[in-house]
Amino acid sequence: MIVFKHAQSLDRYLIKCKNRGQKIGFVPTMGALHQGHISLIKASKETTDLTVCSIFVNPTQFNDPTDFQNYPSTLSADMDILLAVECEVLFMPSVKEMYPNGLSDPLKIDFGFIAQTLEGEHRPGHFEGMAQIVEKLLRIVKPDFLFMGQKDYQQQLIVGQLIKKRKFDTRLMVCPTLRESDGLAMSSRNVRLDKKSRKLAVKISETLKFIKTASAKPSNTLKQLEQEAINRLQAIKGIDPEYFSIRNATTLKPVRKRTEKMVALTAVWIGGVRLIDNLLLN
Ligand code: PAF
Repeated sequence: MIVFKHAQSLDRYLIKCKNRGQKIGFVPTMGALHQGHISLIKASKETTDLTVCSIFVNPTQFNDPTDFQNYPSTLSADMDILLAVECEVLFMPSVKEMYPNGLSDPLKIDFGFIAQTLEGEHRPGHFEGMAQIVEKLLRIVKPDFLFMGQKDYQQQLIVGQLIKKRKFDTRLMVCPTLRESDGLAMSSRNVRLDKKSRKLAVKISETLKFIKTASAKPSNTLKQLEQEAINRLQAIKGIDPEYFSIRNATTLKPVRKRTEKMVALTAVWIGGVRLIDNLLLN
C-alpha cells in the first residue's frame, strides 16, 4: 500500500495509473475502520483496478466540538486493516493540506430541503462541511467509482446531488449497511458505547424492523408508525430518540402515497453517543 499525505503527489501517481487504463475506486473515511468500511473497500476492489482509501477527520462537518474531540482515532489498527484487505493507496492529508486557506472556505452549493431536514436540522452545518470535503477529495482523486454506505442514508443522497451538480465523472455506488450479529448498524461511534449502552443500542434496529413489518398493514398510518417508534424508544430508560421519520426514499420529503419508495430514518442518543440508522420499508 502506498501512503500519500499530499494531494499533488497522489494526483501525479493517479494520472499515471489512469494513463495505464486503470479504473479508480475511492472510499473516503474518517478512520476508526470497521467491517462496514472493509465491505466498501472489498466492493471497490471487485469493481475497479485500484482502490484509494482516505482517512481524514474533517473538522468542518462536526457541529459539536465535543463530538470532534471524542471522534475515535485508531490509525495503526486502520493501517493493519487496509494492508490485510490489500487496499492499494491510502491518502492521509493534514488539515492544512485540505484547508490551505483556513476552515471557513464555504462550499457554495445549495442542496435545498434534502440537506436541511433530519440530520440537517439536528446537526446544522454538518452536510455543508461533509460536501465541502467530499468535493475537495473528488477533485483530487477523480475516481471512476465512489463507494459509500447506506448507513449514512442522507449523506449518500447529498453526495449523489453533489456529483450531479458539479458534473463529476464518478459513479456513486451505495453499499448495504453492515450490522453486528444482534442487528446494531456498524459505526465508528459504537466503540464509545459502554457495556450497558451497547446492549440498549440493539433497540434501534429492532424498532426499525418492527416498523417495517407494521408498515405493510395499510391501516397503520405513517404518523401512527412514527409515533409508535418514538414511544417504544422513549419507553426504554437510557434511550433518548431525537427523531424517527418515514420519508420518500429519494427526496426525503414526507410520503404522499404509500406506493412511493419509503425509508425510515432515526437518530438516537444512548449513553452520550448519538447513533443513526435507517431501513428501506418497501
Ligand atoms: O461518512 C464519513 O465517514 C464522512 O462523512 C466522509 C464521507 C468521509 C466525509 O468526511
